[in-house]
This record gives sequence, C-alpha cells and structure tokens, in this order.
Amino acid sequence: MVRQPAVLDRLGGRLGNGFSSRLHDERTASWLGIWLGVSFGVAFVTGLISHFMQQPPDWLRWPSRPVNLYRVTQGLHVIGGLATIPLLLAKLWTVYPELLQWPPLRSAGHAVERGLVFLLVAAALFQLVTGVLNIAYWYAFPFFFTVAHYWTAYILIGALIIHGVNEWAKVRRTVMKRPEDGVDRRAFLFTVAAASGAVVLTTVGETFSPLARLAVLAPRRPGIGPAGLPVNKSALAAGVTTTARKPDWTLTVTGRVERELTFSLAELRALPQHTERLPIACVEGWSASGDWSGVRLRELLRMAGAAADARVRVESLERGGPYRTSWLDPPHCRDPLTLLALDLNGAPLDLDHGHPCRLIAPNRPGVLQTKWLHTVVVT
Ligand code: HEM
Repeated sequence: MVRQPAVLDRLGGRLGNGFSSRLHDERTASWLGIWLGVSFGVAFVTGLISHFMQQPPDWLRWPSRPVNLYRVTQGLHVIGGLATIPLLLAKLWTVYPELLQWPPLRSAGHAVERGLVFLLVAAALFQLVTGVLNIAYWYAFPFFFTVAHYWTAYILIGALIIHGVNEWAKVRRTVMKRPEDGVDRRAFLFTVAAASGAVVLTTVGETFSPLARLAVLAPRRPGIGPAGLPVNKSALAAGVTTTARKPDWTLTVTGRVERELTFSLAELRALPQHTERLPIACVEGWSASGDWSGVRLRELLRMAGAAADARVRVESLERGGPYRTSWLDPPHCRDPLTLLALDLNGAPLDLDHGHPCRLIAPNRPGVLQTKWLHTVVVT
C-alpha cells in the first residue's frame, strides 16, 4: 500500500474512516449536491436570460411585459447566487476527505473523474468569487467580467451534468433509504440552510423594497440616491457634465422615417406627458421603482411616420463605452409604458439620472435604460 504524505495525516487523520466527523458521508454530500444542482441550475437559466436580453440573437424579440420580469430573474440570479455560497462551503467541507484521497490517481478512469471534479469546483468558485466582486464594484480581475462569467457558466453546467450522471445511482440509493447509522445530519443540514436563508434575508431588500431595511449585506439599497433612486454611472464618469447641461440641447428622431424631427427640451415638455411607475432593474441585482414622466416613444415614432414594426436605436451623449447606445425591439417601441423621461418622482431628472432626457422602459436591464439621450434612430 502507498503511504499517504504526513500533511494529509495532519489534515484529516488516516484515510478511510479516520476523519473525525461522521458527517463526511455520502448522504450529507448527496443532499447538499441536490441543493447545489438546483441553485446552479437557477443561476444558469437566469444568467442566460440576462445575457440574451442584452445581446439578443436576430430571431429573439423580448416581450416588454411583465414589467418586473427582469427585476425578478436578475434578483433571483444574484441573491440566489449569494445564498449558494454556504451550500458550496458545506459541500466542500463534507467531501474534502475524498478530494485528499491517496494515491491521487488510481487509473485512467479515476484520473478523468477527478479532473472533472476539479473543473467543477474551480468553475463554481470562480463564478461565486467573481460574481461577488462584481456586485461589490471591485473590478480586481484583469479580464472582462461578463465574458469570463458567461463562458465559465457553460463549463460549470457541463461539468455539473456529467458529475450528476456519474453520481446519480449513489445519490438515489443514499437519499431514498432511511439511514441506520444513528448520525444526526439534520442539525448540520438545517444550519447550512439557515445560513443560506440569513444571506437571503440580509440581501433581498436590495430588490424587494419592503425588506430594504434588512439589506445590511447588500451593496445597494433602493431609496438611496438623487430623487430616491441609486445611480451606477454618474454624469462625471460618463464625461457628459458639460454637453448634458447645454441650453441648446436637442433630441432628433431620424433614420427610416417619413419626417425627421428635432425637439428642444421645451418642445418635448409641450408634448403630452405621461407618468408611469417603472423599476430600474440593475444587472448587479438591485432594483428600485420610481414615477417617471415624459413622452411616449411610440408617440414620437408615430409623429415621425415610422413603420409599425420599427426597431429603434437610442444614442447617448456619451462619447464611448458599451452602453452608449441601446436597441428597442417592436414590443418595446409599441408599449405605452416606454417613455423618453424628463422627470423622476415629480422633479426634473437629476444630471446623474440622465438629464435632460433618458429612456425608461418595462422589463429591461438598467444598463439598457440609456441616459443623456440625443438621438433616436429608426431602422
Ligand atoms: C454569487 C454568485 C453570483 C453572482 C453574485 C453573480 C452575478 C452576476 C452578475 C452581476 C451578472 C450580470 C453581469 C452583467 O451583465 O453585467 C451575472 C451574469 C451571469 N451569470 Fe452570474 N453570478 C453568480 C453566480 C453565477 C453562477 C453560479 C452561474 C452559472 C451557473 C452564473 C451565470 C451567469 C451568466 C450565464 C450570466 C450572463 C453573463 C452575460 O451577460 O454574458 N452566475 N452574474
């Protein structure tokens, strides 16, 4: 027999039954594996919704209703992702004797199996760590977060599915049968579930306003910011503090229209104004609703003589950056809730909220609610 290194002795005693806690067992690992499978599955689906809302393939037209759909899916993604952290830590603690097996590789099949588990653990840790850093606005990594997070999600889900198929027989056997070993796993599993619940309770208020006061662990809380709404990118960071304040600012509707239109701020204000309660639902998981007033986009498109199935690109005064422009598909263009807003909560827009004019539309990520508008291009 190959003798294990002394460091492994120190970490866990002798392999086999030598680890001190009897909770390092298949039944505990199976339950935690099921919970993790569900939470990673939810994170994957909600993450894809966010990705394809921002970069839709040609054939996809996102509906503009329900109004709060993105608020719910992205809230679920981020809050659910945070609640996964105690589950993953508990799972790693439960199975770590297995991970320290000696000799590390027993056959080619065993090497593949362990490689897959390594990939799964690395991808899971990567997603959770980069996700948390991102919502904490700490961009410590030298790569573009969304691209790395997006592709790692496929690696994680692929490895998870293969791992699930490999382990399924064991999971079924251990979960279905009543344990006869007298080990009380319930207290341990209950503690892990309570830790996840505590994470949810102290963060969910960042999107579910009635619990805002409990959101002590959330990086953002609704209600804080100009006019009671948080701001991610300020006018200063966007480099528009001078251009957005110019008295001769105008909004132009152009492209495939019968008549090109140009409006000053006073002319826009003279058009019929509508007030709608809509959320800013941030990709980083926080959301806050406000009463927005302004002109309906569909009214402007009708005045310009745009086709009923027009797509629209709105452009900001920003000089560059990935969110300088955004697209609206026909469902959003036609929706009476889609506004070119001039006021928020009864006062003219603050410069950081997009003064003099910004887009606000239902069921749409906050990064696509383009601020400091100056052109509407019909295509
Ligand atoms: C603590 C856990 C997590 C947090 C805080 C988190 C956070 C985020 C954030 C903030 C975004 C939006 C990025 C943006 O569009 O700017 C995002 C997108 C995404 N997340 Fe996560 N995430 C977590 C875990 C996961 C996990 C476990 C998966 C996969 C199973 C996942 C898959 C995705 C995908 C596919 C996207 C879309 C990326 C894109 O827009 O291209 N996330 N996540």
